[in-house]
Amino acid sequence: MLLALTGFMGSGKTSVGRIVADALGCPFLDLDALIEKASERSIPEIFAADGEEGFRKLEARQLRSTVDKYAASTAVLSLGGGTVTVPGAIPLLQEKTLCIYLKATPESLAGHLEGNSSNRPLLQEGKLIENIRERLSGREKLYRDAAHIILETDGLSPEEIADEIIIDCL
Ligand code: S3P
Repeated sequence: MLLALTGFMGSGKTSVGRIVADALGCPFLDLDALIEKASERSIPEIFAADGEEGFRKLEARQLRSTVDKYAASTAVLSLGGGTVTVPGAIPLLQEKTLCIYLKATPESLAGHLEGNSSNRPLLQEGKLIENIRERLSGREKLYRDAAHIILETDGLSPEEIADEIIIDCL
């Protein structure tokens, strides 16, 4: 089973995914890191050169190839916060993965992202909390549509979220 973690930037997808993969003794895959490796550029460099549209094309391609490669094995895949906006991503995640939405309030996301958003091109403009509120309200339905399970994560540490996944979801 390929476990896919979705949710907004700062929801803990990468740190939680790493802990779950360690506990299961299976590969941990991070979609952003795979995109960076394949294109030999950082996410900010990709956005600067090709814009969001160029990044989404790389993301779509990497998502499809990663899901194709790992759908039949045990692995944990942390998605990017915007992967659900890519055409075709939602049916792919529904059909080929067990997708969990790490749901958090804008306030708690802002707490995690404060001082930690310089490598996230979409968070460079405007007030952080307003940016999060606006984007999250546009994406909330997409996260819900992609996910088989929704986990409310406010107030939980990455270890506690990972425990919930392992004990309640698998
Ligand atoms: C994005 C989230 C980022 C990264 C890119 C775009 C988004 O991933 O894919 O900066 O659109 O929400 P994280 O959620 O891992 O920060």
